[in-house]
Amino acid sequence: MTPVVLDALTEADADRCAELEAILFPGDDPWSARAFRDELRAGHRYLAARDGDRLIGYGGVALLPGRLGQQAEAEIHTIGVDPAHQGRGIGRALLDGLLAAADAIGATTYLEVRVDNEPALGLYRAVGFEVLGTRRRYYASGADAHTMRRLPGGDPPADAPR
Ligand SMILES: CC(C)(COP(=O)(O)OP(=O)(O)OC[C@H]1O[C@@H](n2cnc3c(N)ncnc32)[C@H](O)[C@@H]1OP(=O)(O)O)[C@@H](O)C(=O)NCCC(=O)NCCS
Repeated sequence: MTPVVLDALTEADADRCAELEAILFPGDDPWSARAFRDELRAGHRYLAARDGDRLIGYGGVALLPGRLGQQAEAEIHTIGVDPAHQGRGIGRALLDGLLAAADAIGATTYLEVRVDNEPALGLYRAVGFEVLGTRRRYYASGADAHTMRRLPGGDPPADAPR
């Protein structure tokens, strides 16, 4: 296999992103190509993972710098890896890249994840996210979501057991 390269996602990738979304999130409102273009035009930070010319992974984060003394916040909007390439560290590399952008502004990062999505929960816990609560019937399929939070730099919360 050729080495995987991470770079910026562009509007030219939107159709392939939508193709992967339909595979990765069936029944849970997979995003359209237009949704990806809107995300990029909104200025959100998106990374691509490529194997040669082929897009095999993507992820995006919205960054909200803290103003007037407020805490900066970030929200992971989506992340996905082609099933043929999962388990190779690509999801982790994409997430590390997005979190580096969040850490650069000192942001606390939030996300929602299906309560039964063990691979994603494992990935998020590995980089310092903790479950804050549960949103009932958050997804189109009726599935529940956990809301997760990661403090700036992935530091454990002050009340975490040592
Ligand atoms: C979640 C996802 C992005 C992970 O991508 P990936 O490239 O396969 O993940 P990586 O190989 O980088 O694995 C990183 C860590 O994730 C966790 N992980 C990955 N696959 C896992 C699995 N099947 N079960 C449990 N944990 C898993 C592990 O902690 C792993 O670290 P380790 O290899 O040191 O144990 C991928 O499974 C995916 O695209 N899923 C469908 C889309 C999705 O659910 N996105 C998240 C929506 S909130």
